[in-house]
Amino acid sequence: MLLQFYAWREARAIGAMEVLTSPVELNYFRERGGPGLIDIVGVIGSGAMGSGIAQVAARFGMKVIICDVDDAILRKGLAIIDKGLQRDVDKERLSEAEKRETISRIRAVTDPADLSSSDFIIEAVSEDLTVKSNLFKRLDQIARPGVILASNTSSISITKLAAVTHRPDRFIGMHFMNPVPVMKLVEIIRGAATTGETFAVTRDLASRLGKTPVEVNDAPGFVSNRVLMPMINEAVFALYESVATPRAIDDVMKMGMNHPMGPLELADLIGLDVCLAIMNVLYDGFNDSKYRPCPLLKKYVDAGWLGRKSGRGFYQY
Ligand SMILES: NC(=O)c1ccc[n+]([C@@H]2O[C@H](COP(=O)([O-])OP(=O)(O)OC[C@H]3O[C@@H](n4cnc5c(N)ncnc54)[C@H](O)[C@@H]3O)[C@@H](O)[C@H]2O)c1
Repeated sequence: MLLQFYAWREARAIGAMEVLTSPVELNYFRERGGPGLIDIVGVIGSGAMGSGIAQVAARFGMKVIICDVDDAILRKGLAIIDKGLQRDVDKERLSEAEKRETISRIRAVTDPADLSSSDFIIEAVSEDLTVKSNLFKRLDQIARPGVILASNTSSISITKLAAVTHRPDRFIGMHFMNPVPVMKLVEIIRGAATTGETFAVTRDLASRLGKTPVEVNDAPGFVSNRVLMPMINEAVFALYESVATPRAIDDVMKMGMNHPMGPLELADLIGLDVCLAIMNVLYDGFNDSKYRPCPLLKKYVDAGWLGRKSGRGFYQY
């Protein structure tokens, strides 16, 4: 499916952005006889996060191969990218020509084997240990030796995922925030075997994507979701116990705590299935009842009310 690649030199010259290459990244490839920089980024999963990561990488001059299970899902992912870039055009941050050029750097595929030419692979599939583990076993066979595998998991142990591959030293967490094109932070998580070089290459890649990397160690939920998700879960408990309406709960947190979004609005943006999966990882990982997911959250997920992506969550869309 889709789209012709630009030659690298042309891609570098496109748009207003300078493609910077750090000495760490140059070494990473020179030592392995590679092209000298991260040229092609593989992204697996074209949902909310994968499409955002692909958009940003292409926008910053990299070629992107994005993979999902079928063409219909990929089309949805590409539509998200198109909409995101169009927003930039409408706000005059991007010209129509730059938008076309950005899109032309993205190739969409359904066979993970097509990620074999990637210089760096970012996984953004569903938050499920079995799904991710099976996928990483496969990616380990597909990716060239030395290529770093990164997971955008919100909470699952990087050490555990790394251990299913033969390259735990070249495995790392690269946790982008939603929506990826807007949010500055990338939480970079070292697994037990992640090398300093892997960390440095990943940190520099995040910077090249215009993001601010923050280093954390591997623990359930890392920092972001260990702090955020119990707050969201508590907001769901407040609703469950009829303390207030969804709007009132969100208003209290927005106006009272200066949060830009209320916790229930944010849960709908993140996806209630993702929130539940993260709470389960915290609950199992810490073995502590304070992380038990609210029954109402489970009920909504069972009903298929997953938030914005399904048209209904705590609010209707
Ligand atoms: N939603 C958020 O706010 C958020 C924020 C940060 C991190 N994350 C994490 O990012 C990851 C993706 O989340 P999302 O919100 O984009 O989910 P999503 O449900 O929107 O998309 C997941 C995509 O993965 C695809 N997929 C599943 N199995 C696959 C496989 N074997 N091969 C290829 N594609 C496969 C699905 O078809 C789907 O398109 C999760 O690990 C999640 O925890 C999510």
